[in-house]
Amino acid sequence: MAVHKIVKYPEPVLTTPAAPVTEFGTAELRQLIADMFETMYGANGVGLAAPQIALSRRITVIDCSVGEDTSQRHVLINPEIIAAEGEQDDEEGCLSVPGFRANVRRALRATARAQDVDGNPVEVTGEGLLARALQHEIDHLNGILFLSHLTALKRDLIKRKIKKLQKNGEW
Ligand code: NI
Repeated sequence: MAVHKIVKYPEPVLTTPAAPVTEFGTAELRQLIADMFETMYGANGVGLAAPQIALSRRITVIDCSVGEDTSQRHVLINPEIIAAEGEQDDEEGCLSVPGFRANVRRALRATARAQDVDGNPVEVTGEGLLARALQHEIDHLNGILFLSHLTALKRDLIKRKIKKLQKNGEW
């Protein structure tokens, strides 16, 4: 297994819609998913999308237990949100925007339909953090970062801070 480098905003791959996966059940795909979990756990994340390792493909892994409970591991390929209801407003962060967190309003419950590593249909329904992760990660596959959900004022503040960090070679 291999830990991949997580790319950071403003890498263009993060704001580009990812391409659908068309080949399933391959050793390459299984390895990639194992690597994505390894990379996510290495960064203490609860979700990781392929564009975050510079791979523009519609694949995401989620584990809200951060490796504590295998029943919480989800692999979602070509996922889409098919149902969402309610509302939650809580702090959110992203491994591609490290060090910055902000409140983002999301649906409280969400259901995603996707395919597994063999191409079989899967559905995941979550509430609270899992619902948030589903929405955040599927956003990634559409080239959307949590920054897009903030007010222009908050977004510009974070962008300015990132530019400053970049200038100082700290990003
Ligand atoms: Ni993220």
